Amino acid sequence: MDLPIDRIRIEVGDITTPPSEWGVTGIVNAANESLLGGGGVDGAIHRAAGPRLLEHNKMLGGCPTGLAKITPAFDLEGRGIRHILHTVGPVWQSGDAVPIKIGDLHEDVLLASCYQQCLDLAAEHSIDVLAFPAISTGVYRFPKDRAAKIALGHVLGFLARHNTPRRVVFCCFSEADAATYRHVLDSRNEWMFSRQRG
Ligand code: APR
Repeated sequence: MDLPIDRIRIEVGDITTPPSEWGVTGIVNAANESLLGGGGVDGAIHRAAGPRLLEHNKMLGGCPTGLAKITPAFDLEGRGIRHILHTVGPVWQSGDAVPIKIGDLHEDVLLASCYQQCLDLAAEHSIDVLAFPAISTGVYRFPKDRAAKIALGHVLGFLARHNTPRRVVFCCFSEADAATYRHVLDSRNEWMFSRQRG
């Protein structure tokens, strides 16, 4: 099995229309606790999956922040996607948080839990290639750089211990967001095991 660093890809695109060469078979939705849709990537996924997704989710009873629930992909199956993992990220409440060490804030722990829960579900359901959006960094205002560190740190850590998913795609919605992920990845030796603040 390839090294974790060789099993992740940072791409720019719409998570509902992944190019076939990405080989995506599961996508993550940045949902809200109702699981009944909304704006942003949640709205895009519900539009693309069609009304059956909403009907299905009405029976799920919602999802608490930091957790995740798996559903079929409904109309997205035509694009090779078999599962949608709905996870609810935290709303950023810490304002201009002083550069507090990652992991010390309540929001950090909840965002990390979103990634962990989705990865666990992907392994349980043998999802070969899983695509993540940048959870919580839109409407929920989580700082992008901080969120990228949490995302990359947890995904790389999980891939070091698991063979499934075989690959993880960070599907950024803009080149600027992808540049943030690439910068964070390239500088991982500075922050991943650091004891400095921030
Ligand atoms: N494909 C990939 N990424 C997307 C797409 C898309 N089609 N649409 C938006 N994004 C990106 C945003 O640019 C951002 O980087 O997804 C990231 C998450 O942004 P949001 O969708 O706003 O999600 P979030 O910040 O987690 O807020 C969730 O917003 O839409 C509502 O119902 C949702 O209440 C929930 C809240």
